[in-house]
Amino acid sequence: MTKVTQSTAELADRYLMQTGRRLPVTFVRGRGCVVYDDSGREYLDMVAGIAVNLLGHAHPDVVAAITKQAAELIHTSNLYYTQPQIDLARRLVELSFPARVFFSNSGAEANEAAIKLARKWGTKNRDGAFEIISANGSFHGRTLAAVTAGGQHKYSDPFKPLPPGFVHVDFNDADAIEAATDEKTVAVMLEPVMGEIGIIPAAPGYLKRVREWCDRNNLLLILDEVQSGLGRTGRWFAHQHAGITPDVMTLAKGLGGGVPIGATLAIPRADVFEPGDHGSTFGGNPLACAVASTVLEVVDRDGLVGHAAEMGELLHASIQDLGATQTRGLGLMQAFQFEQPKAKPFQNACLESGLIVNAVDDNTVRLVPPLIITAEQIDRAHDLMRKAAG
Ligand SMILES: Cc1ncc(COP(=O)(O)O)c(C=O)c1O
Repeated sequence: MTKVTQSTAELADRYLMQTGRRLPVTFVRGRGCVVYDDSGREYLDMVAGIAVNLLGHAHPDVVAAITKQAAELIHTSNLYYTQPQIDLARRLVELSFPARVFFSNSGAEANEAAIKLARKWGTKNRDGAFEIISANGSFHGRTLAAVTAGGQHKYSDPFKPLPPGFVHVDFNDADAIEAATDEKTVAVMLEPVMGEIGIIPAAPGYLKRVREWCDRNNLLLILDEVQSGLGRTGRWFAHQHAGITPDVMTLAKGLGGGVPIGATLAIPRADVFEPGDHGSTFGGNPLACAVASTVLEVVDRDGLVGHAAEMGELLHASIQDLGATQTRGLGLMQAFQFEQPKAKPFQNACLESGLIVNAVDDNTVRLVPPLIITAEQIDRAHDLMRKAAG
């Protein structure tokens, strides 16, 4: 691996806020599931920009959609109608459930909109109830409300005082949700597969029971499908594995194939925003929407949801002999956990050998490759991971 030159690292230190640690590589281009660094060295990408590049890098249809739309109209604001935004909203609704859509630019913003929607809904329908029950260990983004909704103190505590109205219980424990519900509760907000913490799928029956509890108690069910949505788990949306639909669903990451976009879908009962309640200058601009519609079209045309299910099984089978004590996942959202704290050295060894994986903590490695990954590429990743595991 080429090392990042001293001047790259120094310049980055000098001019970029240090919000995260970077691995010592500078990427300059990509194609399919492969990216290249500034020395021309090739890497197989099992992270896809953190579950973003559904169609890999430089997909010809994505490049063509960006080029075409950029030459026509990039941005107008939401003071006016634009056809790509309406087309994308319609397609998302066709793929999911009867709803209307608010567009933003990221997962955090999509969740922020969901939280605001729930609070307004509580004011109108539940006597001012405002509390949202979410899961310990969950991740919903970095705005102040989203980071508070997320159940990880390391991300929220430095920013106290946090907004009130968030209660956390253990994931996969429906009893705990029932016990935490009171007259202040307005919604339950969950990831159907917890992603950032290291891929923890909802246990069988859990989402169904939470859905029933929300129905019985007039609560909204908000599902954050920012990471799990759009084919990644082998269904268009992860909640479809559970045979339920949420009242509010958030999407981002894969939707734009790498171009930033977020979306919040709400069923008619939950869709209480009125003109002036919420907004975003860039949200749903014609460029992002035209590209996102192309991503959905290609995922559909090329059968990538079924392909993700199939490749997910191969990937899951391939991580069984890496010396991990636990392997888990759904479709192309997979992780394995070592007993020893060796995930970061493992990630570095993989990078040295031309493979991109993601250590989410000291023990756990996450794999969220593009949906276009092939069986041969999974074999190659497996060979390199075996070597890195020692
Ligand atoms: C489930 C989930 N929700 C929300 C987010 C936040 O998305 P963004 O970084 O686009 O704000 C993430 C990002 O990792 C996520 O995995």
